[in-house]
Amino acid sequence: MNNYRIALLPGDGIGTEVLEAAWPVLQTVARQHDFTLEGTWLPWSCDYYHSHGKMMPADGVEQLKGFDAIYLGAVGLPDRVPDHISLRELLLAIRQGLDLSVNARPHRLLAGVPGPLRSSAPFDILCIRENTEGEYSGAGGRVHRGGDLEVAVETAIFTRAGVERVLRYGFEQARQRSGRLASVTKSNAQRHSMVFWDEMTDRVAADYPDVDVTRYHVDAIAARMITAPETLDVVVASNLFGDILTDIGAAIQGGLGFAASANINPTGGVPGMFEPVHGSAPDIMGKGLANPLATLWAGALMLEHLGESAAAADLMDAIEEVTVTGAGTPDMGGTLSTGELARQIQAILGR
Ligand code: NAI
Ligand code: MG
Repeated sequence: MNNYRIALLPGDGIGTEVLEAAWPVLQTVARQHDFTLEGTWLPWSCDYYHSHGKMMPADGVEQLKGFDAIYLGAVGLPDRVPDHISLRELLLAIRQGLDLSVNARPHRLLAGVPGPLRSSAPFDILCIRENTEGEYSGAGGRVHRGGDLEVAVETAIFTRAGVERVLRYGFEQARQRSGRLASVTKSNAQRHSMVFWDEMTDRVAADYPDVDVTRYHVDAIAARMITAPETLDVVVASNLFGDILTDIGAAIQGGLGFAASANINPTGGVPGMFEPVHGSAPDIMGKGLANPLATLWAGALMLEHLGESAAAADLMDAIEEVTVTGAGTPDMGGTLSTGELARQIQAILGR
């Protein structure tokens, strides 16, 4: 019987609430599929910062390398610890320390969830965002601060290895899905980085003759995600472009209560990190109002990544068996609490 060691990082605010609600559901689906999930709760958070002066132990990333996957709630309590410290010292430290270069986010409407688009055509998009370089590499500087000659430079860094690995991951996903891949570019305006991106797309595409590649300019695909999302499947984008497109994706799937994310090192050998896209929501924390579905969906992504596809599919089916009835948390227009919604899904899985 397979056993997977999972690092559980509830973090702060509703991060704790959604992870505590979701974890027993995952345990149940594991039991039904004859594997075990061995969870280790790690208290790294803003509370931890107040008692230890740091967000996680100095060897935190090393500790995480001993697990098969990381399941995270949300991090940040801006009234207690400034966001640039909490996010940098925990989330970004993990993403960088484990070189989680791929950020994958599924965007589709769960059964029964209305979503904001007028068209009812079903869509199922997997956005894959480069997570370590590009426009967010941090290269640049400011000169003549405060003076008339002041200048700010923000340099996008695109490496051959960095672009190739995210594209290759996208092609692999496309091969397993519909065989269609959208490569997001802006080579009509960004004559260096995005022309390079296009060349790399062509180069990697040569290894995947079975995948049908379409090149979209980022502005055009942003509009397309709203007007014709059903025409898209796997979408691969740079860090900045992917950041914006995944927010559109979250919006068209009904909002932050649903958006899930996988942070993956495609070369393997280190755990991936699976999390809801939302933050710690201090405005609703402690009230049982948080929607646990994004976290459960992230759990399904984790099971899929661990190779337990049947369990992942069962979990998604159980989630949709509930959403199709219109039941849900207040953000979904329902009356269930975080725990009640999770327990309804768990009951279906345990049948
Ligand atoms: P947020 O995502 O926590 O909340 C934005 C709005 O969405 C709030 O009104 C909140 O009540 C609502 N919301 C979020 N998740 C929800 C859920 N599951 N169910 C129902 N409603 C939900 O973003 P915000 O307020 O900008 O940030 C709060 C803290 O979270 C900050 O410290 C921020 O840095 C941190 N943060 C952490 C992230 C992470 O850990 N990955 C991601 C985004 C923000
Ligand atoms: Mg964003």
